[in-house]
Amino acid sequence: MTFLLWDESMSVGVAEFDAHHRKLVDLVNTLFDAMKTGKGKEVMGKVLEELVAYSRYHFEAEEKLMRNYEYPAYITHRGEHEHLVEEVLALSQKFQAGDIFLSLDILNFLKEWLSKHILQSDMAYKEFFKQKGIR
Ligand SMILES: [Fe+2]
Ligand SMILES: [Fe+2]
Repeated sequence: MTFLLWDESMSVGVAEFDAHHRKLVDLVNTLFDAMKTGKGKEVMGKVLEELVAYSRYHFEAEEKLMRNYEYPAYITHRGEHEHLVEEVLALSQKFQAGDIFLSLDILNFLKEWLSKHILQSDMAYKEFFKQKGIR
């Protein structure tokens, strides 16, 4: 069973960002599998670090396109990204420091962390970029 599934209902209409979102979904699933199969701390720590790095990369790409097209909700959206990065970075650091272990609660948090942002905030730019002719 897949922990978090990307399907067409999650498509934001911009091919590049759909691909980024799929990669982020993959990383959360990889963490879930690592937890389930009792992978070592080092493996899980690496995936968490990748999640932090790839989130930053993806958020920057979205923000760049938003700036280029003067997306009206840019400031709010960027603020959300900053908050999301802080959250996942804090999680990664606590994990590396041995203060927390990966649990189903944490995986569910990451599932929400990602899917809520895509389904609510990212989805809000779908029509805007579509009008601009971006695919
Ligand atoms: Fe996104
Ligand atoms: Fe976003």
